[in-house]
Amino acid sequence: MSVEMPAVPGLDLYLISDSRFLHPEVLDRDLVLWELYIFPPYPLTSPSAEMSSPSLPSTSLHTLNVCPTLTNSSCAWASDLKQLTELYECEWTGAVVCRTATRNGFKEGEEHGVVFGKDKSEATLTTLNSYGYSPHPLSQYLVWFRELLCSPPPSTNPSKPIIISITSNDPRELKEMVDSIQTFRREIGDIPLTPFSNANLPTCRIGIELNTSCPNMGPSHPPPAYIPTLLLPLLTVLSNAFKADRSLAIGLKLPPFVYRGQFDAMIGAVHLFTYKSPEGEEINPFAYFATTNTLGSALLLTSQSDLSPPSFVPSPSASTPPSEYALPTPLGGLAGAPLHPLALGNVFTFTSLLSPYPAQAIARIKVVGIGGVADGEGVRRMQSVGAAVVGCASVFGRDGVGAFARLAEEVGWKGSSA
Ligand SMILES: Cc1cc2nc3c(=O)[nH]c(=O)nc-3n(C[C@H](O)[C@H](O)[C@H](O)COP(=O)(O)O)c2cc1C
Repeated sequence: MSVEMPAVPGLDLYLISDSRFLHPEVLDRDLVLWELYIFPPYPLTSPSAEMSSPSLPSTSLHTLNVCPTLTNSSCAWASDLKQLTELYECEWTGAVVCRTATRNGFKEGEEHGVVFGKDKSEATLTTLNSYGYSPHPLSQYLVWFRELLCSPPPSTNPSKPIIISITSNDPRELKEMVDSIQTFRREIGDIPLTPFSNANLPTCRIGIELNTSCPNMGPSHPPPAYIPTLLLPLLTVLSNAFKADRSLAIGLKLPPFVYRGQFDAMIGAVHLFTYKSPEGEEINPFAYFATTNTLGSALLLTSQSDLSPPSFVPSPSASTPPSEYALPTPLGGLAGAPLHPLALGNVFTFTSLLSPYPAQAIARIKVVGIGGVADGEGVRRMQSVGAAVVGCASVFGRDGVGAFARLAEEVGWKGSSA
């Protein structure tokens, strides 16, 4: 089997066919992985102190320190400055992830909305949404994040990271977006200036999460994570950015996978970007997988839904007859309780494949568990299958930031931080 590498300007690598890093369970497959040696050496910069409460669980996603290990996941309720400020000021979010931004902002229409299922209790909480991406462009988020980071409220954990969710189908456009984030990081002093090693990483405050998995973009734009030819050029852009600045923390927001080959393919695709540092250390640019995004092509009937807020569907014109479908699309991305077992299965499969992986650079990749977490038990289940951080959207949409305080209380963190 041959692997075609995408032609991306500036890609500076040598491909060497090599099967040394194959996971033992796929060794018998007709599969060849490529080890990438990338030159020239990246610049190295300075460490800064890690700051987190000693009594709350914390983890690092490469250079990002997440404490506690609970976050919102990218969603419509993390769109504007007010929502992001509330998330940033909430002591129970260990990081803030914004709604997915594009370069120019996504044009929202009457077909875009979110509906909750009828029974909104924790065990059955369901959402279906037809949203694309944030209407606000990346440039607007950078203005807001500068504001947030430059005048944080006194109670905010000073190392709390902001993860900027971005996407584009076009590698050139994605590169522009990543460049503007890196310029922003440089301006706010988030890129260390002195050398550091993997054993002594600096703490940074801005990371990038590439959304590879929105199911609502129509037939001509499938989620790239399902289609390697679409994904590899995007990963190449991120890998090049990492090569130029090894302090950059990069995550991939993944869609729900439903059979084993999809997990192997994703890990194989990411492993294509493993390279050797000048010190001979194997490094992979990707810090974490956030799994999962919503499950596409789902449908709720109006009779199954509660259309009052926090559901939001633009009102149809008076001449439009009432629809039997809850969303005008009528298909959308399913989240909440019906997604939870699949999300647990995805987290379980990734952590089972990653942690024993023969190549340390891949074994180091962390998993952020997202999907149907609505109570402390859900957080615990995600942790029990290997999630380093737990994220949620639907319950945050229902309760606002109060959801994180409740989850923290239910897992026994609240009270332990005093
Ligand atoms: C209304 C809504 C909007 C969302 N928008 C985004 C988005 O912009 N980017 C993204 O990566 N995921 C988005 N998601 C997916 C969530 O981050 C999350 O992966 C999914 O909803 C499963 O988590 P949950 O069951 O806690 O809701 C959205 C989810 C909802 C419900």
